[in-house]
Amino acid sequence: MTSSTTLRTHTCGELSARHIGETVTLAGWVSRRREHGDKLAFVDLRDFSGVMQCVIDDGADARSEWVVRITGVVSARPAGTTNPNLPTGEVELTNCSLEVLNSAEPPPFPIDQRADEVDENIRLKFRYLDVRRERMQRNLRLRAGVNSAIRTAMENQGFVEVETPLLMPSTPEGAREFLVPSRKEPGSFYALPQSPQLWKQLLMVAGMDRYYQIARCLRDEDLRADRQYEFTQLDAEMSFVTKDDVLAAISNAVLAAAHAATGITPPPIERITWHEAMNRFGSDKPDLRFGLELVELTSIFSGTAFKAFASSPSIKGLRVDCGTYPEQAAMGRNKLDQLTERAKQLGAKGLVWMKVGEGGALESPVAKFLSDEEKTTLVTALGASSGDLLLLVADEWSTTCGVLGQLRNDLARPPVHEGPYRYVWVVDFPLFVGINPTTKKPQPGHHPFCHPHPDDESKLETDPLNVRALAYDLVLNGWELGSGSIRIHEPDLQRRVFQLLGIDDETADRKFGFFLQPFKYGAPPHGGFAFGIDRLVAILAGEDNIREVIAFPKTQSGLDPMTNAPGPVEATQLNELGLRTLPKPAG
Ligand code: AMO
Ligand code: AMP
Repeated sequence: MTSSTTLRTHTCGELSARHIGETVTLAGWVSRRREHGDKLAFVDLRDFSGVMQCVIDDGADARSEWVVRITGVVSARPAGTTNPNLPTGEVELTNCSLEVLNSAEPPPFPIDQRADEVDENIRLKFRYLDVRRERMQRNLRLRAGVNSAIRTAMENQGFVEVETPLLMPSTPEGAREFLVPSRKEPGSFYALPQSPQLWKQLLMVAGMDRYYQIARCLRDEDLRADRQYEFTQLDAEMSFVTKDDVLAAISNAVLAAAHAATGITPPPIERITWHEAMNRFGSDKPDLRFGLELVELTSIFSGTAFKAFASSPSIKGLRVDCGTYPEQAAMGRNKLDQLTERAKQLGAKGLVWMKVGEGGALESPVAKFLSDEEKTTLVTALGASSGDLLLLVADEWSTTCGVLGQLRNDLARPPVHEGPYRYVWVVDFPLFVGINPTTKKPQPGHHPFCHPHPDDESKLETDPLNVRALAYDLVLNGWELGSGSIRIHEPDLQRRVFQLLGIDDETADRKFGFFLQPFKYGAPPHGGFAFGIDRLVAILAGEDNIREVIAFPKTQSGLDPMTNAPGPVEATQLNELGLRTLPKPAG
């Protein structure tokens, strides 16, 4: 990269001892000014690349955040004044002449202070100043590096970038959509894409073979650390593939992205089945950075006299090992009560806790209901020893897993960005996640276009809840990075799945006709994937909120304090669109 322009010869951060003696011109912002005496002042000049100390005439008017151009000679700093913490710390610019390119008002917060000391709302209100800071500069540049590595990895694998529409029909599935009123057809609406899912499958019918896009997606959901209304996916679809081909292609892109961001290529990404993830970690987003795995205990209590456990379909436990988690294992009665409350909020009927004493004796309010044999087998099954805390839940399998999985995270999960990075493919998700209580029909786990696992297709009608899908997620440090599936390309199979969901041919045609019709004209077997670039970049940048890797994000409540969006529009605009607004509901 050449950094010289008409207005400068170098950037601030690139100067070092090898430039000593050269006359250079820099341009940037006054980061700090200190009076030196002897009619001299120090100015730290900042641009995107770093900071350079310049010795200027103390008569020169150059205040904080003024934009200036300085010409001077690169000189060694006098002995004892070098700064080993600064890349340019061995040199300074002397014999300077300074030209003010623009003055500036004092900024609302210091640009050179740690960003997290400034209120979030103020940061976003003055985002252009916030991005001037080192943290955001680093994050956005890291993001650009990740995008570039992803593009190269995808193109090296024969993927073709195709842009897809932002204005599309509303498709009633998944998250809530953002709607765009049509001026030409008052009362009609476009929807903004939740993802390019529809288009990428049509591109497979269209013979594009391998498509990718760094695609902006929009979903009107409640915002959280890992969710914004607008976000970016690496979106991909491939023809004539099996699951393994998709996983391999996406792994290459993710590992290339990680290498671009950290300089290290992670090891090949391991795989576990959804069932194993639930059984061991109680989550379909398992965080593999720490142990505290769930242990199966059902058979131990098959003949128990303890009412809460008797004839329970699933009993599982956690051993909070006092060696690894001393504080958690030693928690007192108050904390244990809080934990029990938490378990109940999560859907458990209760939580049994036991403290392991000397010789394996169990201290617990329910110890008296358990036989000696049950207690000894339990201690052995959990590998427990003196000082450990044991937590047990009895319920339906999905509840025992889910509740203990959440307690496992509550007790020991590190912040998402902390190393070591643990990527994992979770494969063989169930095709359906349960029975809809009103329709009494199975509910699709992802969407109704996921291909059932070929080994389970015969069970579709007889045992739908035990049918696996060719659907898979990529998880990093307990965050879902992305998901995908092999799609149904056979019309007969699609009809069977719709029938199971209670969608007859006529409804299917009405709701999904624009999507199903093309499949009659020769759809190849195909599958794909999408992962959230914001989430991947946040973790790689050491951040735990995706806002920190987005140039202009929304606040948690979905607002932009800088532009004040969303805001009212002129009555004439509404008239043109045939819209009238209702008064804001009270409260
Ligand atoms: P899915 O809905 O799982 O799959 O989305 C894929 C990935 O997109 C990211 N993501 C988000 N990131 C930030 N803010 C949000 N609101 C948000 N919502 C989703 C996540 C998520 O894992 N079309 C399918 C993919 C496919 O089947 O090919 C899809 O969009 O990282
Ligand atoms: P109870 O018999 O409801 O008074 O419960 C006795 C103890 O067992 C309490 O500590 C409850 O929190 C716990 N408990 C009750 N039901 C369950 C359950 N299904 N799984 C785990 N613990 C339970």
